[in-house]
Amino acid sequence: MTLKGRRLLLGITGGVAAYKAAALARLLVKAGADVRVVMTEAATRFVTPVTMQALTGQAVWTDLWDPRVPDSMGHIELSRDRDLIAVAPASGNFLGKLAGGLADDLLTTLCLARRCPLMAAPAMNVEMWENPAMQRNLHTLRGDGLLARCIQHEADHLNGILFIDRMDKKVRAAVDPAVRALAKATRDAAKA
Ligand SMILES: Cc1cc2nc3c(=O)[nH]c(=O)nc-3n(C[C@H](O)[C@H](O)[C@H](O)COP(=O)(O)O)c2cc1C
Repeated sequence: MTLKGRRLLLGITGGVAAYKAAALARLLVKAGADVRVVMTEAATRFVTPVTMQALTGQAVWTDLWDPRVPDSMGHIELSRDRDLIAVAPASGNFLGKLAGGLADDLLTTLCLARRCPLMAAPAMNVEMWENPAMQRNLHTLRGDGLLARCIQHEADHLNGILFIDRMDKKVRAAVDPAVRALAKATRDAAKA
């Protein structure tokens, strides 16, 4: 199983599809992945950290200033041992911040300071997706060499996977099977 033993950081942002992140986390854990969850404040309005903690069996992180990380460098440390950051659902706001290089919460800071690959599953209504500002942000991400491909986008669902990273072939070969497995798990969760 391609997700077995993979150390994932599952980022959850604020959108209705956040409830599907619970199903996704369960599928990932079932597939043998080690799932560390980081949620934005808005995400906690849609699904509780306690739910995500129960599903993953791990502490859930929401706060940039959380003193639980021993050297107080949570914004870096939480992603350092991860193979991949997967943000699902990824809000329009999150993608905009990513495009702008903004880091005003734990998840965006982790993404900006990461060493591992990042993928995101956008979920928003079609008006938001087609908004020129949103398209401009995607264009920016692509221009930065960060938006390697968009596997699929379906508005309101979780199955639009943006693979946001330029990677050398070796890294890509290692990560691709996990991304495919993750994409499948995301599609399954979207149907849940
Ligand atoms: C009921 C409700 C549903 C929302 N659904 C979405 C959504 O599906 N996609 C999205 O991008 N934003 C959605 N939003 C807006 C985001 O929650 C808002 O932009 C928020 O600031 C996102 O914060 P975050 O990116 O830090 O998680 C919704 C807001 C509300 C109140």
